[in-house]
Amino acid sequence: MKQLFMAGPWITEHEIEVVTDAMRNGWYENAYHYVETFQKEFAAYHGRKYGIMTPNCTTAIHLLLTGLGIADGDEVIVPECTWIATAAPIRYLRATPVFCDIEPENWCLDPESVRKSITPKTKAIIAVDLYGNMPLMDELRAIAEEHGIPLVEDAAEALGSVYKGTRAGKFGVGSVFSFHRTKTITTGEGGMLLLDDDKLYERCMFLRDHGRAPGIAYFNTEVTYKYMPFNLQAALGYAQFQRIEELVGKKRELLAAYRDRLKDIDDLQFNNEPDYVINGAWTTALVFGKSHGITKAEVMRGIEERGMPSRPFFYPLSSLPAFPGAKERYQSLNRTAYDISERGINLSCAMNLTDDQIDAQCNAVREILGR
Ligand SMILES: Cc1ncc(COP(=O)(O)O)c(C=O)c1O
Repeated sequence: MKQLFMAGPWITEHEIEVVTDAMRNGWYENAYHYVETFQKEFAAYHGRKYGIMTPNCTTAIHLLLTGLGIADGDEVIVPECTWIATAAPIRYLRATPVFCDIEPENWCLDPESVRKSITPKTKAIIAVDLYGNMPLMDELRAIAEEHGIPLVEDAAEALGSVYKGTRAGKFGVGSVFSFHRTKTITTGEGGMLLLDDDKLYERCMFLRDHGRAPGIAYFNTEVTYKYMPFNLQAALGYAQFQRIEELVGKKRELLAAYRDRLKDIDDLQFNNEPDYVINGAWTTALVFGKSHGITKAEVMRGIEERGMPSRPFFYPLSSLPAFPGAKERYQSLNRTAYDISERGINLSCAMNLTDDQIDAQCNAVREILGR
């Protein structure tokens, strides 16, 4: 069996041609041609007015939180289980991440936990579409509106997901996507911020390029960031975006293949897809029900012993040394997050995965469970 990777893209001659065109022609008057085209079409696809490409998704979150005025002493609500990139920009701004519990079904932000965590200092709520799953957006939107707090959607893992007929990326005041080399559409490193509000868009554009005064060359009115995208990155992103249905289709096929091969085993939970959701299935997550009496560490060790990689379900952020003191405060509050995380793994989502490799991972899971 050829080497199995956890993640990786699907690059065709089409991408090579478009990137080659950017190399040959994407300079001078065309220096931002692909950036502008990609931003515009990606935003329109998601029903948004504006797209702002960034060097990665982490910087897109940082840009948006800064644009929303998050600063020292503010609190921002995030789910426990997500990649640290959701919360790190809150700390860059010297604000405080407030970790909320997750739902047992969709592994995303639990609205009740959010409700209990709101204080006068809460300045934003970031909902994360984990592994392509969709949070209870209606409930989260209602809470945000009731309290006048902006909702932000971290859709980094949810390209192609749909909630009640609306695409992931259309929720809240702004949403972000990642085009990291492991994501469904890749630019190697890259991200996108989607917005609808004119003022917030102008502010974020200003913040993205060193606080230049509009219309006056080299005249900076604030010290801000340099989060400009590169046309070559955007050319790759645009070419991949032109194949979005095919790429998301492949991800959904992989999820279905894993599900099918393990369907006779009870008490396994895969990516959540209730009838009002289409799951973009960025990666396949598998949570072992309590009846199996097994932890993620045990399963991962078993897969490794069979010569394959796997990844842990995200650790609760509050359990990480990166947030000192948080575990003591949150462990007893966010019980679902601590429980699910302990029992979950990710299987490979590489776009070059073969049937043999899917079989090998599923057979490993079967052996480990004694099935
Ligand atoms: C949920 C989530 N948010 C944010 C990010 C950050 O993306 P990037 O690596 O492009 O900065 C990632 C992925 O890495 C992610 O999975």
